[in-house]
Amino acid sequence: MSYQIAIDGPAGAGKSTIAKIVAKKKGFIYVDTGAMYRAMALHMIKNNIDGNDSEKVAKECDNANVTLKYIDGEQVVLLNDENVNAFLRTEEVGNMASITAKNPTLRKKVTDLQIELANTNDVVMDGRDIGTCVLPNAQVKVYLTASSEVRAKRRYDELMAKGESADIKKIEEDIILRDHQDMTREISPLKQADDAVLVDSSNMTIEEVADKIISLCE
Ligand code: DC
Repeated sequence: MSYQIAIDGPAGAGKSTIAKIVAKKKGFIYVDTGAMYRAMALHMIKNNIDGNDSEKVAKECDNANVTLKYIDGEQVVLLNDENVNAFLRTEEVGNMASITAKNPTLRKKVTDLQIELANTNDVVMDGRDIGTCVLPNAQVKVYLTASSEVRAKRRYDELMAKGESADIKKIEEDIILRDHQDMTREISPLKQADDAVLVDSSNMTIEEVADKIISLCE
């Protein structure tokens, strides 16, 4: 069996930053499953689909083909063969992804691809349901979290560094709303797997968190 490291947790906990470091150190591929949900959401936005209209979302899934490729170790998300990496990290796409991720047809399509990737590669995979649903037999499972205040501050600092304006209170409100949506949906809600190790990164550095996860592989 391939080696599988599953990292789940709420928005802004630092999953992708940590997962990339761990993947590099282990020589595994990094699979950012949120980016797949974001690509599906981008497709729905482009086609003016109401994310809450489950029938329309399910039907439109047939027209959205998401695949991944790796260039110099970086994950590139292709939506109908177009590289959409540059369009995925906006608040609009993230909020839509949290809504359309409730859709069972969409989830099945995306998780089938994740399982296939994990069966054929050693992976560090991050998301919301990796340890609980997608890779229940992963050798290492981590539930990475941080307080909503700390997560909002990290996001605020990121936007400031890019020279963008931001309201930290609004960021925290959006984070709390997204947590609620992701944790209370009917299928594959965000929750800590019974056998996952809880890591609260509120007072930890990136290196400390990465080292902790690597130590779990030994
Ligand atoms: O991690 P992210 O912010 O890129 O994820 C965007 C949304 O996609 C998130 O709010 C919920 C959904 N998602 C999911 O339902 N399951 C996953 N494994 C990953 C993301």
